[in-house]
Amino acid sequence: MIEFAGVSKRYKNGTQALKNVSFKVDKGEFVFIVGPSGAGKSTIIKTILREEIPTSGVVTVNGYNLNKMKRRHIPKYRRSLGIVFQDFRLIPNMTVYDNVAFALRVTNVVKKEIRSRVPYCLKLLGLAHKAKCYPEELSGGEQQRVALARALVNNPAIIIADEPTGNIDPELSFEIVDLLSEINLQCGTTILMVTHEHELVSYFNKRVITIDDGVLLADTRAGSAEYLFTGVDQMNGYSQTLSSREKAIDFSDKNHPATQLLDSRGNALEADFPVRRTDRNAKRDSAPVGRKA
Ligand SMILES: Nc1ncnc2c1ncn2[C@@H]1O[C@H](COP(=O)(O)OP(=O)(O)OP(=O)(O)O)[C@@H](O)[C@H]1O
Ligand SMILES: [Mg+2]
Repeated sequence: MIEFAGVSKRYKNGTQALKNVSFKVDKGEFVFIVGPSGAGKSTIIKTILREEIPTSGVVTVNGYNLNKMKRRHIPKYRRSLGIVFQDFRLIPNMTVYDNVAFALRVTNVVKKEIRSRVPYCLKLLGLAHKAKCYPEELSGGEQQRVALARALVNNPAIIIADEPTGNIDPELSFEIVDLLSEINLQCGTTILMVTHEHELVSYFNKRVITIDDGVLLADTRAGSAEYLFTGVDQMNGYSQTLSSREKAIDFSDKNHPATQLLDSRGNALEADFPVRRTDRNAKRDSAPVGRKA
């Protein structure tokens, strides 16, 4: 569905934003992309949206080699994706209803269809009572839900989200990702989401691609210990100090010395990740295993 094959990106000013990045996302997967600021996460998103073209390597989406896509086909291609940005990008002089309907009008969907799909999406996102409001009359979380409604209304096969929870409070962040997760499970929509919020990533237990300095550092399956370790490191701010050898350690290997902590006498303790205990974590721990798929 989405494939990066040896993708490197060097911007005009010489910045090497991606270095030989390869990964493959299958239909129906939910993938978080994490990494420090400047790591290249948005560059990955921009190449998928065909806003940037790789300097070398190939990006394939839905069977299309984006390097070869003709300029005139780009708008139609982008409309086939559900796109959500951190800054919402709503049209200020349109109501909530029209912001969502607009996504359908530009694709020539018939009026009757628009009149049923827009209210459905607004209701799904708890926005039915705000349909006549303008974006400036909404809270940040509500605006982000409008952006999500707009991304969903076309029933896209892929949703691409670059820090969709970056401008909303943590409680709402969980709600937004919960919604994305529901859409992923119920509709089989492929979801790629960039985030800085490690609590979200730990809680939702999805596949995680870690990018650092343009390099794909780790690609871990749902709930892997390796991610938790990396995540805790980044929260404490010392991931930058890990050598590439340390970065290559398999943290899911419990017998590896690096996954063990030493007590005051130098005896190894089993690694214990300081995951914050909240009601959410309790809910996660008791969630059925099937939801992790
Ligand atoms: N248009 C551009 N021209 C030149 N350099 C760029 C451009 N866009 C991004 N960069 C550089 O490329 C690198 C990767 O940027 P990118 O925006 O992909 O990072 P990011 O991981 O999304 O960071 P953040 O978490 O801060 O959003 C950075 O060094 C950045 O300064
Ligand atoms: Mg970014």
